[in-house]
Amino acid sequence: MQNEIKQLFETRTSVRRYEYDPIPAEALEVIYAAIRNSPTSYNGQQYSVIDIADQDVKLKLYEITGQKQIKTCNRFMVFCADYNRIAVLAKAKGIDMPEFSNTLDGFTVGVLDAAITMQSAAIAAQACGLGCCCMGYVRTANPSAVAELLGLPQGVFAVCGLAIGVPREHPDVKPKLPRELVIHQSRYTDRDMTAELVAYDNEVTQYNATRSGSKSDNDWCGHILDYYREAMNYRMLDAARQQGFDIQK
Ligand SMILES: Cc1cc2nc3c(=O)[nH]c(=O)nc-3n(C[C@H](O)[C@H](O)[C@H](O)COP(=O)(O)O)c2cc1C
Repeated sequence: MQNEIKQLFETRTSVRRYEYDPIPAEALEVIYAAIRNSPTSYNGQQYSVIDIADQDVKLKLYEITGQKQIKTCNRFMVFCADYNRIAVLAKAKGIDMPEFSNTLDGFTVGVLDAAITMQSAAIAAQACGLGCCCMGYVRTANPSAVAELLGLPQGVFAVCGLAIGVPREHPDVKPKLPRELVIHQSRYTDRDMTAELVAYDNEVTQYNATRSGSKSDNDWCGHILDYYREAMNYRMLDAARQQGFDIQK
């Protein structure tokens, strides 16, 4: 069992190509159960999942995001931060709803809960032999169009998507940063990491040039910084405010 779990994590990769086959109903049950019993902040369960099997809705999301995995996967799940539900109950019970979702921590709590449930779904899917790929463009490409398409009320914000399907590819595992650089013992080891980082950058460059499937001459650092530059154009504060997260402090 422990070996199986170890292998599951060590062989995990994002899968972006899927067969046409549907996801078995039992696998979907496993994924739903994993989502529902995820740890959440305060046990407040500040998340909702929109599970999309409808091809028309997937096509519209594809048009908004340009991410073709959305139209080719069997299910596309959108993980949202959700303060709508607790607000409904507070109102019914006559309890004042504090403006927690208008704080950065409140927003973060919702994002964390959505992200953790997404990871539960991804691991459950992989354990069932399925492939999946997280999708940040659901949040960044056109937040108001996504909110309208999915009918998100105030207090609900789309954080991330997950494409799930029967895998049509088995990509090579991407090299990851060495353990010493990402896992610190007892306190942050603030030492000169340059040589190890340069070595990792070279390893990724080599991997990108030789991996199976599409190859590129990308390095790690330059490529990631290009993503950061692009991402600096996103206006997430406006997007959050449109969904009722009027972040003040
Ligand atoms: C929050 C998040 C958002 C992501 N968004 C996208 C995306 O929009 N499109 C995509 O193709 N991959 C996306 N990915 C997948 C990453 O590109 C992938 O995890 C990373 O390259 C590492 O590869 P691996 O998952 O195969 O180890 C996302 C991953 C995460 C965790």
